Amino acid sequence: MANQVFEAVRTVMAVRQYDDKELPADVVRRVAEAAHLTASASNLQPWHFVVVRERDGLRKLGSMMRTGPYIAGAAAAVIVAYEKASRFGVSDSSRAVQSMILTAWGDGVGSNWTGFAGLDAVRQEFGLPDTYDVLAVVPLGYPQQKIIGKKKRKPFNEVVSAERFGTPLA
Ligand SMILES: Cc1cc2nc3c(=O)[nH]c(=O)nc-3n(C[C@H](O)[C@H](O)[C@H](O)COP(=O)(O)O)c2cc1C
Repeated sequence: MANQVFEAVRTVMAVRQYDDKELPADVVRRVAEAAHLTASASNLQPWHFVVVRERDGLRKLGSMMRTGPYIAGAAAAVIVAYEKASRFGVSDSSRAVQSMILTAWGDGVGSNWTGFAGLDAVRQEFGLPDTYDVLAVVPLGYPQQKIIGKKKRKPFNEVVSAERFGTPLA
């Protein structure tokens, strides 16, 4: 039997061009729930997620995110913030991003990670208190083109070893 979780990991791609079609509310809700349900160190959940669906907000994000101007054309986006005081904020929130990306993909929705921390202008614009740092913005939308899913990755044995560094995993 196929492992659906692995299939999602195997096929998911960074999607940067989105169809005009709106996302059903339950799909957006499921993506947010995936973030909410994610595990965190000591279960402290030092994060906050702002779901943006209004076009004006998406346009603003597109203009503020140097490495994600295409957010302006997404159907929704999630601003991922963590408590600055938390030692695990980045690792916990990163895991939540992956939960959202895979959950979206399971619904046929493309997404991506954009930006990396220090996104203070976004924090201020969307009303997050200054005790938070914005780690990333995750745009969501149906992919404009069919995704072929051919990943460019280093050779498996270059990055995976068995027992000790350098011994290939059978
Ligand atoms: C931590 C992280 C930060 C990223 N930042 C950006 C970004 O700012 N803008 C962007 O378009 N893609 C960003 N990406 C997407 C990667 O460029 C993309 O996943 C990678 O090139 C592999 O492509 P694939 O996911 O389609 O296999 C980021 C990915 C990660 C994991």
